[in-house]
Amino acid sequence: MASQLPDYTIRLMKKEEIPEVLDIWRETQLSEGTHSLDTWFSFDPEGFYVAVTNDGEILGVCAGVLQSEDLAFIGLYVVKSSYQRKGIGKRIWDTVMERVGLRNAGVNPVPEQLANYRDRAGFGIQTSWCSVVCIARDILTSELCTNIPGLEIQVLKPDDDIIDEVTVYDADVYGFSRRNLVKLLCEEGDSITVAAITVGERKVCGYGCIKENIKGNALVGPLYADETDIAELILYYLIKAFPLAESRGVTMMTIDCNQSAIDMTEKLGFFKEPGIARLYTKEEVNVKFEKVFGQHNLNFSVF
Ligand SMILES: CC(C)(COP(=O)(O)OP(=O)(O)OC[C@H]1O[C@@H](n2cnc3c(N)ncnc32)[C@H](O)[C@@H]1OP(=O)(O)O)[C@@H](O)C(=O)NCCC(=O)NCCS
Repeated sequence: MASQLPDYTIRLMKKEEIPEVLDIWRETQLSEGTHSLDTWFSFDPEGFYVAVTNDGEILGVCAGVLQSEDLAFIGLYVVKSSYQRKGIGKRIWDTVMERVGLRNAGVNPVPEQLANYRDRAGFGIQTSWCSVVCIARDILTSELCTNIPGLEIQVLKPDDDIIDEVTVYDADVYGFSRRNLVKLLCEEGDSITVAAITVGERKVCGYGCIKENIKGNALVGPLYADETDIAELILYYLIKAFPLAESRGVTMMTIDCNQSAIDMTEKLGFFKEPGIARLYTKEEVNVKFEKVFGQHNLNFSVF
């Protein structure tokens, strides 16, 4: 039911407001990690704006996380259902875009917003590929590669020496450094992050994270790896280390321009939801698509 519109202002989100914001996001029925907002808020505390009443009630939110000096990613765009269509969303969005300024920006629109963002909000570049939300109630773990000679899986802790190497690996996939993001990911609540490392030389060949989804199952992302076998090995360890994955199933966001990733999800019994378009304001961002088996996050990260 629509509510009368109280006075409100648009301002930066405070850390202590994360649980309330996450509750509003739950209304969308879309996925998000139970503690992912902590990670991305720490990564870019000036990337989150809320509409808030004089009494402190949050009516809506939008994030525009700076990935680098030149690139932003827009997400977590939602207004409480009873306050929608009163101009609140557009005001928060415009504030976020003011901060984004002349930088290139990306977004993953829900189907209903695709034309709005593309034709009315300046996100005129649409990629030829889509993100694919893959969901499995029971993953066929017997189909996964469980051992690669010369390769070991290490559970990552924030103060491990290998974090620097994983950060370099992430930058290699991405094309630029995301500073302390890997360390922040390792600190995230309700999650486990692991890396695949060669025995002896200690070279990083991939890494992945599994976490609790607000929808009750497990959420995998990122899952970056040099090859499919390594992605499977990481996924196997993540599933075995996180009981929720086998009791409630797994959601993972892949990309349909990585055929190996699509083949892997099909082999493991994932159900694929319809593709989600990717839009940018200025230019498409190209990364090492062949190493992206699972995206880090659809709200805050380009991949
Ligand atoms: C999408 C959503 C956040 C918009 O918030 P809202 O407060 O309802 O929207 P507003 O009242 O500010 O919209 C005013 C106008 O601006 C448009 N608008 C809103 N956001 C816009 C944007 N980012 N770009 C272009 N136009 C936009 C609206 O379509 C509307 O246009 P109209 O009057 O021609 O119909 C809200 O509807 C919502 O929470 N939806 C469910 C969650 C969701 O789908 N989020 C998007 C995820 S990608």
